[in-house]
Amino acid sequence: MPAGDSFYIATPIFYVNDVPHIGHAYTEVAADVLARWHRQAGDDTWLLTGTDEHGQKIQRTAVANGVGPKAWADKLVEESWIPLLETIDIRNDDFIRTTDERHETAVARFLQKLHDDGHIYEGEYEGYYCVGCEEYKQPDDLLRAEDGDYAGELVCRIHSRPVEVLKEKNYFFRMSAFQDRLLELYETQRDFVQPESVRNEIVAFVRSGLSDLSISRSSFDWGIKVPWDETHVVYVWFDALLNYISAVGYGVDDEEFARRWPAVQLVGKDIARFHAVIWPAMLMAAGLPVSRRVFGHGWLLVGGEKMSKSKLTGIAPHQITDTFGSDAFRYYFMRAISFGQDGSFSWEDLAARYQAELANGFGNLASRVVAMVTRYFDGVVPAAGETTEAEVRIQETLRTAVRTADRAMDRLAIHEAIAAVWTLVDELNGYITEQEPWAVAKRAAEDPAERERLATILYTAAEGLRALAVLLSPVVPKATEKLWAALGAETGLGALAEQPIRESGDWGRLLAGSRVSALEALFPRIELEAPSAPGGSAA
Ligand code: MSP
Repeated sequence: MPAGDSFYIATPIFYVNDVPHIGHAYTEVAADVLARWHRQAGDDTWLLTGTDEHGQKIQRTAVANGVGPKAWADKLVEESWIPLLETIDIRNDDFIRTTDERHETAVARFLQKLHDDGHIYEGEYEGYYCVGCEEYKQPDDLLRAEDGDYAGELVCRIHSRPVEVLKEKNYFFRMSAFQDRLLELYETQRDFVQPESVRNEIVAFVRSGLSDLSISRSSFDWGIKVPWDETHVVYVWFDALLNYISAVGYGVDDEEFARRWPAVQLVGKDIARFHAVIWPAMLMAAGLPVSRRVFGHGWLLVGGEKMSKSKLTGIAPHQITDTFGSDAFRYYFMRAISFGQDGSFSWEDLAARYQAELANGFGNLASRVVAMVTRYFDGVVPAAGETTEAEVRIQETLRTAVRTADRAMDRLAIHEAIAAVWTLVDELNGYITEQEPWAVAKRAAEDPAERERLATILYTAAEGLRALAVLLSPVVPKATEKLWAALGAETGLGALAEQPIRESGDWGRLLAGSRVSALEALFPRIELEAPSAPGGSAA
């Protein structure tokens, strides 16, 4: 993508019936890493996240806690969902709540337009509904519980809880009319839904025939009122999906809307259908462009099952960050799991990667280089002398890493992008081992040629760190800021945030003469007993 392009990325908006767990944080971090990458590249970037606050699920939770739904949502947003962003270091540009006035008016406007244009009709819904999913269910989505509390009852396959039988007068969206256009979309825009496994499922689902969608409810009132019939509230998913456009000026600020929309949408694969079928059909009906793409990522598994609070396998993000810090959280989930596939979380794996990759691989490299510049050159980055094949190899590794990582980020293959950058961490570590600057330093006292060689080695290592600070800043923003400061790069190059990531492979940016300063361990040693305590049985 050429610099300056618009890049709008959105996470799903999270239900406020409960506090966040690491599954929610996973989506947030992925979106944030992609947004930071594009921002660092100079693209006109916008990261949106927020909360989904209407519907029966939230209303029931509020009632169970003895408060009104809005008071409940306010409490959860303030005490849990906004603080989550700090816990895992998310730099979002906006935070939308479906109870925001801007959102509620946009939903009413959108719905009225669909109504005026003949896409809505009145009918009767008779069937099943799962409040956990906030979704109308087909018989295929259900099974009969064999044992437990609900033995003999029809339960939702996802929540293992009984569904409710609904018979209501509802308003319907003529979604079936968009079946062919949707199939054409999946065909002509091959990467509209990714990864391939999710795409196949969506195509098969739409091919098997689309029904119309019930988009209102009248048996409870926690929602946005249907503009032409105030005895109904808008179906919570229809309401929630519109956050992606209500947050960027739909209907009120055409310039902003044109600048941002369409978005890249990251969602868990469990909610890909809503985003890749219902949402584009809604947009088509309103005559708006569909999302740029919908990426259904995998689940975090604990003990082989999708981690969830309702199944008591939830782990709070701070349980990890309190011990390992937010950078390690971000790095671990983005590196250890192929984005798009499920991944099992374990404390052992996290601790092992922290030690091997972050502390010994990257952190140690940074400390050693800064320490050697301090020791052998009084803290001033020396100018490189003549380069040998070893230095050329480092420069080539860097150039390839930048190109490969940028292409991977474009495909949303975050793990591949990090792996590409890590080739430079490994190469630099190998380079230092091979070149033995400490041995060269000993000889340098007597031999000026060796002194020049030492300068070349340490310039190469420091310049490599300069590039790593830029390339890894989207993933480990705190550590790379510290490294940038320690390299003394700011005086000659400006703030880390201003370094163009796609040009970070151009060799020789770090100015000789930059003054390094002490660098505390980027990833301090952690007592390995500690992490198992907070998470208990999570391995
Ligand atoms: N409110 C809806 C989304 C509306 S978007 C218009 C919702 N909320 S949610 O809070 O239940 O889930 C939000 C996201 O968290 C989903 O993408 C979901 O897949 C993700 N995750 C929840 N548990 C997860 C894991 N165990 N692993 C990975 N992601 C998971 O759905």
